[in-house]
Amino acid sequence: MATKTSLPGTSAAAARGTRLDLARRPRRLRRTPAMRALVRETRLSAEMFIEPLFVRSGEGWRTEIGSMPGVYQLSVDEAVKDAHAIKAAGIPGVLLFGLPDEKDAVGSAAYDPEAPVQAAVRAIKREVPGLLVVTDVCLCEYTSHGHCGILVDDEVVNDATVEQLVRAALSHAAAGADIVAPSDMMDGRIGRIREALDDAGFAGTAIMSYAAKYCSAFYGPFREAADSAPAFGDRRSHQMDPANVEEALREVELDIEEGADIVMVKPAMTYLDVIARVKAEFGLPTAAYHVSGEYAMLKAAARNGWIDEPRAMLETLTAIKRAGADIIITYYAREAARVLAG
Ligand code: PBG
Repeated sequence: MATKTSLPGTSAAAARGTRLDLARRPRRLRRTPAMRALVRETRLSAEMFIEPLFVRSGEGWRTEIGSMPGVYQLSVDEAVKDAHAIKAAGIPGVLLFGLPDEKDAVGSAAYDPEAPVQAAVRAIKREVPGLLVVTDVCLCEYTSHGHCGILVDDEVVNDATVEQLVRAALSHAAAGADIVAPSDMMDGRIGRIREALDDAGFAGTAIMSYAAKYCSAFYGPFREAADSAPAFGDRRSHQMDPANVEEALREVELDIEEGADIVMVKPAMTYLDVIARVKAEFGLPTAAYHVSGEYAMLKAAARNGWIDEPRAMLETLTAIKRAGADIIITYYAREAARVLAG
């Protein structure tokens, strides 16, 4: 007759009688949700998010971006609707990218006062008071060749490009942007933009510098969203080599000397060490950009049923904050705010 067998010492009674003599039992603080919440070191909140929006001309336009489910190209009226929803979710700001009707070799639509970004800044500042409006300052969405600046012999030339960026930043400030965010990685642009803003009476407009922006494969979906892939070549002559961190600190230091108010590391997940060092060494408000490819990876895995999306999203954003980011720019802003609100 079969009898119930158990390994020696594995019955509940035996287990209760077995006791290691431990001075420290870290598991005590993990026993209940209340205990875990009490000792949690990193708390995520919607107040640290900024949500990017892609604006274009027209009216009533809302076209989903194939590789970025839940992210849209929006006409200005639709962007205003999203801005209302973003503010209602407790998110303090938006970051605007523009899709111009026309592109040319020098990206002149970047500083057209009637272009979508400038129009969206005015509309959002007027209709959604209190929401911060940040603008991306770069030429890649505006040049016919998709490069971030003016080309001479197929090379992006630095100083002439900086003058174009200054024009773009001034036009954003004139439209009412609270923060301009140069993402081009040209040398000396922060200083020139600061000087030009001050001279034009925009001393109160802040600069968030994409200070350590890496040449990353994770911008792929953004380039579909913004129609800004370079027609030839790549961005290695100005964006940083993913292998470098000391260089990132030098870039950040230069931008701070030139007048950056907030410094950014981009992308986020693959550069957590850079975020940590930038925050520790400079102590400035530090932003991290959780970029399009990072978002697309989570979305794709979730759609295949391979990961639990809300958990993966919060784990990701928590890691970015834990590394030292004060501000997280993320396409997940509203979704994360919703989950955090319970
Ligand atoms: C340049 C810019 C890019 C991103 C933000 N600003 C693209 C690039 O450098 O090619 C990428 C953002 C993302 O991938 O979410 N205007």
